[in-house]
Amino acid sequence: MNALDALHSRISVAFLTDPAPDEAALVNIYKSALRAADHGRLRPWRFLVVKGPARERLGDLFLEAALADDASLVAEKQDKISRKPLRAPMLLVTVSSIKQHPKVPTIEQEFSAAAATQNMLVAAHAQGLGAMWRTGSMAYHPMVMKGLGLTEHEKIIGFLYLGSIGGPTKTLVEPELEQYFSEW
Ligand SMILES: Cc1cc2nc3c(=O)[nH]c(=O)nc-3n(C[C@H](O)[C@H](O)[C@H](O)COP(=O)(O)O)c2cc1C
Repeated sequence: MNALDALHSRISVAFLTDPAPDEAALVNIYKSALRAADHGRLRPWRFLVVKGPARERLGDLFLEAALADDASLVAEKQDKISRKPLRAPMLLVTVSSIKQHPKVPTIEQEFSAAAATQNMLVAAHAQGLGAMWRTGSMAYHPMVMKGLGLTEHEKIIGFLYLGSIGGPTKTLVEPELEQYFSEW
């Protein structure tokens, strides 16, 4: 798929299944992340790869965090939380790693990490893979951040769920360009 086709047709895929992307596809995704616009070329990011059984450990961490907030969670809800990372064969966690810089504020560095995540979504789609960017309360929970090894200068920008497309995908709705673009 050429670049414009990929950009114009990308959609999120919630229903993801095995197999996980192979190594060559992953390398393409990783390289795309590292081409994100990046003020000062600070590389204000790192990415955690969560595959196979590591997803269960992430689910345990989610549950631990959720129970710390509400110890009375019913079993069904607990199960739902701990199974979240199993919704795809693998996840990439985008972590913004903020560097001190006189001209590049934190928000711009977080924008770069977000741009890297978007590049990965497009790179996955361009290779016929499914992907979805998710956050939710777990992305901002201090216990999750600590459990994933983040430092005080780091934040979770997103969980990128990644895999093979597991079902019918949604129909693209052609946007009305005039609604968003106007001459000034
Ligand atoms: C920062 C960020 C966080 C998101 N978190 C979630 C989420 O937790 N759950 C969810 O269903 N969609 C989430 N989304 C939205 C989906 O990734 C997706 O973009 C949306 O469903 C629209 O679908 P589309 O990408 O096919 O247009 C998030 C998007 C962004 C940019």
